[in-house]
Amino acid sequence: MVIDRIELNHYRNYEHLELEPHPGINLFFGQNGSGKTNLLEAIHYCALGKSHRLTQDAHAVMAGEKAGSASISVRGKWTRNQIDIRLQPGEQAMKSVWIDHKKVKKLSEMMGVLRLVIFSPEDLDLIKEGPAVRRRFMDMMISQISRSYFIALQQYRLAMEQRNAILRNSRLQMLPIDPMIVDFEAAMAEHASVIDRERRKYTEMISDNCREIYQEISGHPGELFQTSYYGFMRDAKDDYGKMLAESREEDLRQGLTGIGPHRDDLHLTLNRKSMKLFASQGQMRTAALSLKMSQLRILTRVCGESPVLLLDDVMSELDLNRRMNLLREIGEAQTFITFSDEGDVDQAQPHRTYRVFSEDGKAAVKEQKAGPESGAVPLREPDFT
Ligand SMILES: Nc1ncnc2c1ncn2[C@@H]1O[C@H](COP(=O)(O)OP(=O)(O)OP(=O)(O)O)[C@@H](O)[C@H]1O
Ligand SMILES: [Mg+2]
Repeated sequence: MVIDRIELNHYRNYEHLELEPHPGINLFFGQNGSGKTNLLEAIHYCALGKSHRLTQDAHAVMAGEKAGSASISVRGKWTRNQIDIRLQPGEQAMKSVWIDHKKVKKLSEMMGVLRLVIFSPEDLDLIKEGPAVRRRFMDMMISQISRSYFIALQQYRLAMEQRNAILRNSRLQMLPIDPMIVDFEAAMAEHASVIDRERRKYTEMISDNCREIYQEISGHPGELFQTSYYGFMRDAKDDYGKMLAESREEDLRQGLTGIGPHRDDLHLTLNRKSMKLFASQGQMRTAALSLKMSQLRILTRVCGESPVLLLDDVMSELDLNRRMNLLREIGEAQTFITFSDEGDVDQAQPHRTYRVFSEDGKAAVKEQKAGPESGAVPLREPDFT
């Protein structure tokens, strides 16, 4: 997929920006706080309807403004679309999305219109943090492939909120549980089976790819990186509706639902030992990169075309070998790379270089002329040494 045009209005520190990026590699240099990540975040908003950072929609609107927007024209092998997203902060905060100038009723309609994979230093959290980060990783990938998965996730969450509300209400009022709970449990069971099925299918693909990619990057065929899905249903025949009914009393005490896909995890091991507890920093980094690279491979294979890639500040974190592997994997994909420092120039690779700078708190992006001072595409081995 290729982004032909980006327009931002009152988005974070961008008052107005129009950009026609290169179909290959786009490099963004700029000082800390200039607006590089903000630009990648805007692309993420147009793909998934939300930021890749854990932030509220309202924060993406330029401070003091009533609304902010991001627009993208994207071209796929078989498609061409215009995506517009508009955010309004305030008490009646609103988020509206238009695809090809038609307002969408459900966020699910935008899934897959612009597919992307983002690499950032926070990827290490995939190894170090709790299951929520890894569920988000699975959800981001699968939602871009399967709209029915995204819908099931949304509907599951809604039904669970209703079930939890009934339980909390019953506990507070010291009343018997509202019999309506049965309906919400039935809805949860229906959507959970879709979530469980899709997660199993795609985590199996992740597992196959990760093992191979990890060995390629580490150069140690003896190091076995394994990922396995840890689902609430041990078996596809498990009856989640029944499990929920049986755990009602316990859930009543806790005031929340204790089992279900909202508790699932992706277990990560190195040589059959917990990655989080036993792996070195470098091994964790390789594992995180392998997970993201397998996401890129799977999206490309399943969808028949490469997603757009966003590399936020990751190049400086990677050593030569990891960089080379990542860049090989990128291949022909349209890529947006941010750097906070200068690099060397490699004119061999088709690319465009931009400088991002901020004046009076407002960001601007200026295309650099090709030349020795213009920044780099770090693709050739000698450039890293
Ligand atoms: N809603 C907003 N309104 C105005 N400015 C904002 C808003 N949100 C963030 N900013 C500004 O955006 C800047 C941060 O931008 P960004 O995170 O893109 O920087 P960066 O270029 O990626 O920096 P680094 O190299 O440190 O990662 C900060 O100066 C911040 O004050
Ligand atoms: Mg940044």
